[in-house]
Amino acid sequence: MKMSIIGAGAVGATSADNIARRDLVQELILLDIKEGVAEGKAQDIMQTKGLLNYDTTVIGVTNDYKATADSEIVVITSGLPRKPGMTREELIGTNAGIVQSVVENVLTHSPNTIIVIVSNPMDTMTYLTLKKSGLPKNKIIGMGGILDSARFKYQISKHLHCAPTDLNAIVVGGHGDTTMIPLIKHATWNSIPVRDLLSEDIQNTIIQDTMVGGATLTKLLGTSAWYGPGASVAHLSEAIINDEKRLVSCCVYLEGEYNQNNICLGVPVVIGKSGWESIQNIKLSPEEQASFEKSAQNVRVMNDVLKIS
Ligand code: 2OP
Repeated sequence: MKMSIIGAGAVGATSADNIARRDLVQELILLDIKEGVAEGKAQDIMQTKGLLNYDTTVIGVTNDYKATADSEIVVITSGLPRKPGMTREELIGTNAGIVQSVVENVLTHSPNTIIVIVSNPMDTMTYLTLKKSGLPKNKIIGMGGILDSARFKYQISKHLHCAPTDLNAIVVGGHGDTTMIPLIKHATWNSIPVRDLLSEDIQNTIIQDTMVGGATLTKLLGTSAWYGPGASVAHLSEAIINDEKRLVSCCVYLEGEYNQNNICLGVPVVIGKSGWESIQNIKLSPEEQASFEKSAQNVRVMNDVLKIS
């Protein structure tokens, strides 16, 4: 099996490293527009092979889309990352042009691939890719909800002093500081509702800290995060490659689900070998449904900027 990652910045390269370590594919192409960067990072990753004992071959290329031919999954991380104080939405103009041309190049050589979108603003980039690619909706997946849910579990685990892997917690809605919705009332610690264990104040702190999770890191690092995004890309890729039927939050095209149409937003989906295979319904409270509608409205404003048809 072959997959490709477009963009060998910190997120793309960390995704490649995580995927190689999990030995998910025979061949992994890392492509960047900057001469030598993907080649260098691929070689650096390959030099861990003798220490980490995996078989995947990572190959770096400069803008050579032919090398990505016949990929079954392509992950798009291209575009500018956030700078401190910037929202993901401020990247729209530049990143839309980049993502659109990447998608065209990818499809020339891998017309039936599954596309995973990481570039920001992710919900709009996912929608753009869906509309421009002509691929079936199940093959276009925005990764953000997996990352936001991982950050949500981390925040809960800090207050419960528990293992994040024992938590069941999901973030839906947009992948934006104000559009994501951490569903704390539905979160459980191995089936014990978290809301029964934490005060309202702590629950609100967890929600707030989750929503600004990416922005907090951008402020600390001077650019956007990469370890969480890289591990999230690998988690999603593994679920597709191994046909795991995992239930995770991802940004997908909605046609009536959660009362929304003609938009890509984060909802619980089952991931398997065909991409996202079904959308699962969480019974949202009226308050949660109102937040979901508000989130959709904000994402629509972004989509409208691009006049995507
Ligand atoms: C983040 O939230 C890069 O959007 C990504 O860190």
